[in-house]
Amino acid sequence: MSSLATLIKDDSLSSTLRIGVVSLAAFSVVGLAAYVGYRAAGPQNKTYALQNRHPESNEQIEKVLESLRLDDEKLRQIMQYLEKEMEDGLSPATHKNADVKMFPTYVRTIADGSETGQVLALDLGGTNFRVLLVTLLPQSRVELTSKIFVIPQSIMLGEGTNLFRHLAECLLEFMRKENLSLTGPRYPLGFTFSFPCKQEGLASARLSTWTKGFTCSGVVNEDVVKLLQNAIDEKKINVQCVALVNDTVGTLMACAYKDPNTAIGLILGTGTNACYVEKLDKVGTWDGDYNEPKQVIINMEWGAFGNNGRLNYIRTKYDEEVDLSSVNPGKQVFEKMISGMYMGEIVRLIILDLMQQDLLFIGQRDGYGDYSTPLFTRGGFYTKFVSTVETDEGIAFANTRRVLEDMGIRNPTFDDCAIVQHICKNVSKRAARLAGAALAVLINRINKPNVTVGVDGSLYRYHPRFKRNMEKCMKSTVSKNIKFKLTLSDDGSGKGAALIAIVADRYQRSQLRSVSSFDESEDEQIRVLIQQQPPNPVPPIVKATNTITRTLP
Ligand code: GLC
Repeated sequence: MSSLATLIKDDSLSSTLRIGVVSLAAFSVVGLAAYVGYRAAGPQNKTYALQNRHPESNEQIEKVLESLRLDDEKLRQIMQYLEKEMEDGLSPATHKNADVKMFPTYVRTIADGSETGQVLALDLGGTNFRVLLVTLLPQSRVELTSKIFVIPQSIMLGEGTNLFRHLAECLLEFMRKENLSLTGPRYPLGFTFSFPCKQEGLASARLSTWTKGFTCSGVVNEDVVKLLQNAIDEKKINVQCVALVNDTVGTLMACAYKDPNTAIGLILGTGTNACYVEKLDKVGTWDGDYNEPKQVIINMEWGAFGNNGRLNYIRTKYDEEVDLSSVNPGKQVFEKMISGMYMGEIVRLIILDLMQQDLLFIGQRDGYGDYSTPLFTRGGFYTKFVSTVETDEGIAFANTRRVLEDMGIRNPTFDDCAIVQHICKNVSKRAARLAGAALAVLINRINKPNVTVGVDGSLYRYHPRFKRNMEKCMKSTVSKNIKFKLTLSDDGSGKGAALIAIVADRYQRSQLRSVSSFDESEDEQIRVLIQQQPPNPVPPIVKATNTITRTLP
């Protein structure tokens, strides 16, 4: 009550209203008056409540959150370190021990919108596994049908053979449902496999390490395409995997299909990573030909930036705790400060710390006994909650209240909500600034007048101000002579894999044709689905007909 009175006293409400409100002293009326007062105080006072209430506590809260703040100088330092790590990854002398692996992908031709055809795609990248049927039509139009399947935890942590068997089973189920012929020539398939892989060709890639909570045995150092193809063949499915791509590469490709200035693909989802188009003479590790186009897409695997301790000076005790309790301690240090798999957990740890210091949920102490609530459970604060909480504007905090109640906090107060939102804002802003600064390194390196970045991932897509925070940071870190654009690449990993598979499929067949002993019937072993014109012209939009039957939690 006293803090609400302060709030009313300090604002621009008329004294008559003030007296009326205070004398009524009924919660509902006071709440309404406070809200009116808050609104009347103007937009510059958005953080008003937090700054003015419990100032003593706020100072302490600010001290905790200070560890998350990155000023411009720190960002510039990070950018310099990243540049150095990139060089280490690209140079044969230092590649082996480099954290940022900078894997050449063997994708050298960027889609130009002229690609047409129909292919299958698998997308395995973390919380989602999807099977897709993608139809690329003239004028950059895309139709897709997809189905999401669950990867149970037991498979994520079990034997590799079971993982690939599961993928093949889901593929078969999808083909049956879509009435695709299960006999006859093989369908080409693009495989989006969003884990660090050393590619040895477009359809050959060895997993270098698992990330994002997977630990399947018997897969590291193995050719993932072979493992998938074996599982497909075991089930006698008429599908041939013709390309493996990282989700960043798919995203870049899908965006380039519409915007020729696209030179970077970025994922901000369960994990984070970027790829970009690099000149061949800068890629010391390149072992392919030097024909035109003298460029290749590099899958950076920037999530591993900082594994060598380079970023320790900006890591907080919460980052360390998140790392220690993960399945891959010491790995993916940069990713753990940014991506969706970890962001909610960082927020939860800060909340617990503030509770322990008696700075938050003060009226709830009696209820602390229930340690089975999500608040006390690792992973209990989902990253999607960060977006939900930050969507609240004003002081009603309807979303925040709901989230906190779901977490086991009964009747959270206005202060509780304001503080939790403040924590979320600080954690997500740090992530956006880190991603923005890293992106600036790439844009400056590409150094073209116009650079488009294709972006995908749930964090970027659903967070209300992630993009804005990134752009703000990039304004001061990208060279002034470069214009950049962040474009949401809708379903990039699925479409991109399809695009690459179509190009690969065409290329494979053209290579076969150029061999004099080539037997035409061999060509037909891979089903030809490429068509010049669509049977029924459709409007120039991306049309997605998702048949999502099962979703992940
Ligand atoms: C992880 C993976 C990487 C992927 C990224 C985004 O960092 O290692 O390959 O691109 O997540 O999904």
